[in-house]
Amino acid sequence: MNVGVLVSGSGTNLQALLDRARRGDLGPARIAVVGSNVPDCAALARARAAGLPTFVVDHRDYSARAGFDRALMTGLRAQQVDLVVLAGFMRVLGEEMLGAFPGRIVNIHPALLPAFAGVRAQRLAYDAGVKISGCTVHFVDSGVDTGPIIAQAAVLVHEDDDEESLRARILAEEHRLLPAVVRAIAERRVVIEDRRVRILGGGPSGENLRSL
Ligand code: GRF
Repeated sequence: MNVGVLVSGSGTNLQALLDRARRGDLGPARIAVVGSNVPDCAALARARAAGLPTFVVDHRDYSARAGFDRALMTGLRAQQVDLVVLAGFMRVLGEEMLGAFPGRIVNIHPALLPAFAGVRAQRLAYDAGVKISGCTVHFVDSGVDTGPIIAQAAVLVHEDDDEESLRARILAEEHRLLPAVVRAIAERRVVIEDRRVRILGGGPSGENLRSL
């Protein structure tokens, strides 16, 4: 299964996928291309270092979302992408992209959805004083972080945490969860029934709770 990864930032989640793929631990998933809306982001450099094709669609060049979406679709389709992974991609996708990859776009979010959707989720969780937070991989729908939840990993919030230390603890779980979900999807073990998602044969969801 050809995977296209969309990125905007530092690309540590992309790196986690690349490292797993290099170890032969991504099942039938193959990272085929990396696209970004940010021309000089570190994530693109990681992709190039791994020898992957890349493309840039700068959102500032588009007055309407449809044109931006179509340009993304062109970059992804050029590499026959089957599954789109948003790994720190900081733009909302429109109907064109959702229609082009129905049920085949996933996102990693640094909070336990449906709590703390949107940007700066770690900050919102920290400020809210929650005792447990974590990350979520979900299918993308037309809302912001509202699609069906595939898998989650939890972390404890420590007394002496600040926003940054909480962010780092969540990120470490993101790096485990996202590749595990991508592999499960590529192995065709992920089934959606309305809003409920099942991972056949056992999934990455909640596994880390035992070690909290
Ligand atoms: C991650 O926390 C991800 O959940 C969020 O943006 C961050 C991206 O980090 N959407 P990176 O670019 O993968 O390092």
